Amino acid sequence: METVNEIKSDTPVEILFVDDEKNVLQSLRRLCIEGNYSVILANSGEEALEILKNNPNIGLIVSDQRMPAMTGSEFLEKAKEMLPDTVRILLTGYADINAVADAINKGGAYRYITKPWNDEELLQIIGDAVRRYSLIKENKRLQEIIKKQNEELKKWNSQLEYFVQEQTLEIQNKNKELEKLNKNLKVNFKNSIHAFSSLIELRDKKTGNHSRNVAEMSTKIARAMNLSAGEVETIAIAALLHDIGKIGIPDVALLLEIDEMDTEARNEYMQHPVRGQAAIDSVEDLREAGVLIRHHHEWHNGMGFPDKLSGEKIPVGARIIAITDFIEREFRKLNADNAIQLVLDKIKKEFGKRFDPQISPFIEAPVREVYSKISLKTGTKMVEMELSVNDIKEGLLLSRDVKSGTGIILLSKGTTLKWKNIQALRRYYQLDPSETGIFVLVPR
Ligand SMILES: [Fe+2]
Ligand SMILES: [Fe+2]
Repeated sequence: METVNEIKSDTPVEILFVDDEKNVLQSLRRLCIEGNYSVILANSGEEALEILKNNPNIGLIVSDQRMPAMTGSEFLEKAKEMLPDTVRILLTGYADINAVADAINKGGAYRYITKPWNDEELLQIIGDAVRRYSLIKENKRLQEIIKKQNEELKKWNSQLEYFVQEQTLEIQNKNKELEKLNKNLKVNFKNSIHAFSSLIELRDKKTGNHSRNVAEMSTKIARAMNLSAGEVETIAIAALLHDIGKIGIPDVALLLEIDEMDTEARNEYMQHPVRGQAAIDSVEDLREAGVLIRHHHEWHNGMGFPDKLSGEKIPVGARIIAITDFIEREFRKLNADNAIQLVLDKIKKEFGKRFDPQISPFIEAPVREVYSKISLKTGTKMVEMELSVNDIKEGLLLSRDVKSGTGIILLSKGTTLKWKNIQALRRYYQLDPSETGIFVLVPR
């Protein structure tokens, strides 16, 4: 057998022969002289048990059955308790059937050999028994190795688990940090856009909070049209900045309506969409919005400017901003209680000509929402009150635009104050103090 060859070792296997007759012991020793065995002899079961105590590596015990004080099967039973792996063989006469049964059942004997034995046969049996012992030992050794390796693996596994957990935690923390940074960047970006938007309004004072209203209505319309979150954001930015190109045009082009301008002023004015796009082109994140800015004066029928695009060639965001820009300018001109309705009626006539009729169903609700806030008037159980910037509270409704000392619109009429607005106003009022307080509506 291959496995037997593999486990052959040079250390001789220890064999213990137990017999009360000395000449039997001697002939057994002689028999084993040629094998790779180390032979130990004992005259009785008692002596043999003593020997076992000091020789735990005995691989084979061959014991006579008939001995004075302790029988062979009794001895084998005790030997089994002491060294369970040792292979045991009983030597017995013909008549000892009971002894054989005991030796096998209680003493776990591997074989029994009848006296007188045949030398060759006995050597063969001893050889088999020794190989059996080696197999048992090898098996134990391998099991021990497997057990150790399993323990090692378990240890590695738990270390790995710990390591993975640590790494995961580290990654999670890094992610949180990045998220925070990202959020800060986004907030800063938004604030910068609002700052730009305030600049436009500073340049063109008659526009008031025009850009913010255009942005608010445009985003509401874009959402109602189910545009993606990214598109809605681009539209919001473009709406806030749509007139940024007006910063560079002469005053005359700002003060007059387009049909009141002379050719020169009109030509200047008509450049503001392109100038607006060019102004923000260096900011990569604003480029998409720049395209909408360029086209916010295009007409559905191709009669607009600067590129005379028509229909769906005009980006949808630009089509929306064109409508809300128009509504905002018209609403500002009217000073009537029913201004909202008048504007809605007026714009209806422009769909198909100036504006994309597909957007028509989404207009009314946002317009009403944005302007009904603004047209809240005193007398509807509310009165206007001027408060110092230190006295304003969350939840108050602004009855007028809040402007800084140099005229920048900080918050629009109709805004309900939130804590972050209040903080921003207090900061602004220190940097650029206004002569007036803040006008709010309070219940009468
Ligand atoms: Fe414009
Ligand atoms: Fe505008």
